[in-house]
Amino acid sequence: MNQPTLALNDGRTLPQLGLGLWQTADNQVSPVVAAAVEAGYRLVDTAAIYRNEAGVGQGLRRTAIPANRVFVTTKLWNDSHGTETPAIALDASLEQLGLDAVDLYLIHWPRPAHDRYVATWRALIGLRKDGKARSIGVSNFTAPQLARLIDETGVVPAVNQVELNPGFQQRELRAFHAEHGIATQSWSPLCRGRLLDHPVLAEIARKHGRTVAQVIIRWHLDLGLGVIPKSVTPHHIRENIAVFDFRLDEADMARIAGLDDPRGRLGPHPDDFN
Ligand SMILES: NC(=O)c1ccc[n+]([C@@H]2O[C@H](COP(=O)([O-])OP(=O)(O)OC[C@H]3O[C@@H](n4cnc5c(N)ncnc54)[C@H](OP(=O)(O)O)[C@@H]3O)[C@@H](O)[C@H]2O)c1
Repeated sequence: MNQPTLALNDGRTLPQLGLGLWQTADNQVSPVVAAAVEAGYRLVDTAAIYRNEAGVGQGLRRTAIPANRVFVTTKLWNDSHGTETPAIALDASLEQLGLDAVDLYLIHWPRPAHDRYVATWRALIGLRKDGKARSIGVSNFTAPQLARLIDETGVVPAVNQVELNPGFQQRELRAFHAEHGIATQSWSPLCRGRLLDHPVLAEIARKHGRTVAQVIIRWHLDLGLGVIPKSVTPHHIRENIAVFDFRLDEADMARIAGLDDPRGRLGPHPDDFN
């Protein structure tokens, strides 16, 4: 299967589609990861706080696909911000995953009230130099927080993983990313299932002979975003990757653009989540 990738600003590439693993329990995740890799997924998205990294590692080792062919993202949790702690946190994640390095290490949240995210970012720059994280980025950072990282360290995050779906499209932040060469990766890309019976999306899905989930995933891909839908259901896992043989047209994209609600955030605002 020929899958689209995004060029990162560090010279590496990011598979555009991956499997989200939040709320997939450690004792459940191994077969889910194995099934996804067998179905063609080449990126898995976990985090220290998901407490499933050990199961993710087991799942990767269960498949016939060599582990180094699957892009692994994990994230530094909020209790590990600082100068020294990121190295300890990444070592713990690597031990759980059973890997020598991750493909992408993200600062999960900026925690601006603690004002340590620049120090944390410097530590991640060191971890990339050490080879323990092949690429480094952030998650849930606002444009002013990104600008501060860039101004104070000169190193632009490769990725900002943020809440983004047709009901919350993050246009201004996407424009900032485009200007600075930061790849946007969408979390809760299916709006946690809440848009799956939306009439406009259902109409577009009927037109293409697809499901609404496939239309939404295709929308992320056609906007040039990374997308990490979560599923533990085998037929959803297969359905969500069967999206590389159609495209939305301009009229579809314009109709979906009209669904944006700048107040449509499901998760916390990054400035308030400390
Ligand atoms: N960086 C961050 O702060 C952050 C925050 C939240 C999430 N994330 C990442 O983003 C990933 C995705 O976000 P999410 O898990 O919040 O939500 P999501 O991917 O928007 O939605 C997942 C929900 O949609 C259902 N679903 C998936 N495919 C479907 C299909 N084809 N048809 C019908 N229902 C379907 C799933 O149920 P089934 O499992 O039954 O298919 C699940 O209930 C997470 O897993 C995590 O990796 C990151």
